Amino acid sequence: MKKLYIKSFGCQMNDHDAEQMVGILKKEGYLLTERQDDADMIIMNTCSIRDKAEQKAYSEFGKLDSLKKLKPDLIIGFAGCVAQQEGAKILKRISNVDFVMGPRNISHLPEIITQVHNRKKVVEIQDESPIAPSRPSHRKEEFKAWITIMEGCDYGCTYCVVPTTRGSERSRPSREIFHEVEALAMQGFKEITLLGQTVNSYGRNLPEIIDFSDLLKILQSIDGIERIRFMTSHPNDLTPKLIQTLRRYPKLCKHIHLPVQSGSDKILSLMKRGYSAKGYLQKVQALRSEMPDLSITSDIITGFPGESEFEFKETLGLLGEVEFDAIFAFKYSNRPNTSAPMLQDQVPEEIKSERLAEILAFQQRISFNKNQRLLGSIQEVLVEGASKNNPERWSGRTGCNRMVHFNSSLSLKGNLVKLRMIEARNSSLEGELV
Ligand code: 5AD
Ligand code: SF4
Repeated sequence: MKKLYIKSFGCQMNDHDAEQMVGILKKEGYLLTERQDDADMIIMNTCSIRDKAEQKAYSEFGKLDSLKKLKPDLIIGFAGCVAQQEGAKILKRISNVDFVMGPRNISHLPEIITQVHNRKKVVEIQDESPIAPSRPSHRKEEFKAWITIMEGCDYGCTYCVVPTTRGSERSRPSREIFHEVEALAMQGFKEITLLGQTVNSYGRNLPEIIDFSDLLKILQSIDGIERIRFMTSHPNDLTPKLIQTLRRYPKLCKHIHLPVQSGSDKILSLMKRGYSAKGYLQKVQALRSEMPDLSITSDIITGFPGESEFEFKETLGLLGEVEFDAIFAFKYSNRPNTSAPMLQDQVPEEIKSERLAEILAFQQRISFNKNQRLLGSIQEVLVEGASKNNPERWSGRTGCNRMVHFNSSLSLKGNLVKLRMIEARNSSLEGELV
């Protein structure tokens, strides 16, 4: 058997792309290995969302030089968003790479490998069909599964590389998604996470008439699936219908990841986000008035061009007002093929870092307080696994996506259990079995 080593960087979408590459390559006779030096093929599935991620990807390939010298037949693949962004330039920059493959070309892996076997270097980054394809997946987890329901993005935020790396928005036909989820339920999967760059705009360009709420309604009817999550949602596609759908169906986890990016109207406009801070707050209010316990998480960018102390304080103000359950915050990073690098008043690196640290410290207090408010409550947790060092120490997630640790001598992996919250930490809780 030939052996495949694959490493994925970046978001869940990328991780799931890697699962699809494994699914396809298993059919081609490859087995997964955890060791690079044992592999016949190494694929690095790269991320280009920020410059740091891109540089990390390049450094991985430098480390493969010695291995390729030892094993000249080793196939090295450069996949993911940096592959799409840089294309053939990668072959000039890194001599050990055999193929460069963008995220929209994963289905072509078998042909790419045939060409590589014929001693050709291959670059596959052209666009595929207007409907997102279905591909076999080899899933890492046993109880929870990712499913890509749409790819790409038509928003064009001025800082974001996604519309060029992942292309314009394309959804998968609902029938295919339904069959995939049904098959997962039969295999014993209990939780699914629907993935898409703007997951709640699902269906916009499909020939069938369907929206994201309709899809959720269809999928929650599948027996065996106990929890449905989804990410990432765009505030502009958060409709009253979606809020009602979320409220109505118990299998839909009471959590939404709704990136706001900034609390300043000036910055939101420079980012071309298409909403104001007030508009965003109204959406949060609409969600909370229907579901007071809904967990809302967000993404924030610090030091976007034009952000002075004033605009930064507006973002802190919004964080204080919304009280997100958790956030991901990033320093603004200039990306190729985007327009934000041309904007005036670029913010110096040290200030970006200072603001990032301030945002994270501010949010940490909010997250901790919110965790404390859960003390004494009983939460349903899907047990993901035992700690490596202590088989009686388990962890899992609540429906609202909080990590909970607890002790038990029972083997509980894959079970939904009821836990009382007994201790709050910054980013997790301690529970006890009820
Ligand atoms: N610089 C910093 N953060 C970025 N993000 C996207 N592009 C950039 C960039 N150029 C962040 C956004 C997005 C998350 C996935 O990554 O907050 O929501
Ligand atoms: Fe990027 Fe904006 Fe599209 Fe999100 S909505 S993927 S931030 S362009």
